[in-house]
Amino acid sequence: MALVPTMGALHAGHIALVAAGLAIADRVVVSIFVNPTQFAPHEDLARYPRDEAGDVSKLAGAGAHLVWAPSVADMYPEGFATQIVAGGAALPLEGAFRPHHFGGVATVVCKLVSAVTPNVALFGEKDFQQLAVIRQMVRDLALPVTIQGVPTVREEDGLALSSRNAYLSDDERYIAPMLHKVISEVARGRDPQDAGNALLAAGFSKIDYIEVRDAETLAPFAPGSGRPGRVLAAVWLGKTRLIDNVAI
Ligand code: PAJ
Repeated sequence: MALVPTMGALHAGHIALVAAGLAIADRVVVSIFVNPTQFAPHEDLARYPRDEAGDVSKLAGAGAHLVWAPSVADMYPEGFATQIVAGGAALPLEGAFRPHHFGGVATVVCKLVSAVTPNVALFGEKDFQQLAVIRQMVRDLALPVTIQGVPTVREEDGLALSSRNAYLSDDERYIAPMLHKVISEVARGRDPQDAGNALLAAGFSKIDYIEVRDAETLAPFAPGSGRPGRVLAAVWLGKTRLIDNVAI
C-alpha cells in the first residue's frame, strides 16, 4: 500500500504522485492535511488554498482508493507535546529561511506514516530538500517505510506546478517561468549570482537563495567529487515565494 501525503489544492503534480503509487502498490491512500506546525506565524496558513470537494473528485478520477483528511484536533489533540528535530539536510537553504518548517514537516509525516502504515510513501522532487529531509528521518529513526521520489511536473513553459501559483497575478505568471530557465542555466555552468541578478532585472522582487548543493546531503557541492549535484532556488515574485530545483 502506498501513501501520498498532501496539503490539498491538488494539481497534476499531486496526481503524478498518485499515478506513481498505483504503478508500484495495490492500494493508494492520499492524506489531505494543511499542517499548521510547518507554517511560521507570518506565513500563508490562513490563506492557503483549500478545495476538499474538488480534491476528492480529482483523486477519484485518478484511481486513488482512500482519502484521509484529518482535522487539526485529530492530528494535534489537547496535550500534544512531542516533536521531531530535523538536523543535517534540514539546516541549510529552506532551513535557514524557515527555521521551524522541516521540524513540522518531519513530525507530521512521521504521524501520517505511523497512522497509515504504508509500504511506500511518495514525495515530489519539486520540494527537493523536503524529500532529502524525509529520507534522512526514515533512515535515522528506522521507520519501516520506503520513500519514493517523483520528478517535478511542469507547465509547458517550465513553471513547476504549485498550489501557490494561484497567488500570482497575470503579469507575475508571465515572468514566473524564468526561474526554471535560469536555474537550468546554472546547472549548465552559469554563475548563480548572475542568474539571480537576471531574475531581479526581469521583475522578481527578492532572491532568498540560488545555490548548487550535494543532491543527497545538501552540503555545499564539491565539483569533481563525482557526487550528484542539484541547483536549488527560492525567490519572491511580488508577495509569492516560489521554489524550484534541477539536477546537474
Ligand atoms: P504539498 O505542497 O501539498 O505537496 C504534496 C506532495 O506533492 C509533495 O511531495 C510535493 O513535493 C508534491 N508536489 C507538489 N508539486 C509538485 C510538482 N509540480 N511535481 C511533482 N510533485 C509535486 O509538501 C507538502 O504538501 C507537505 O509538506 C507534506 C509533505 C504533505 C507534509 O505536510
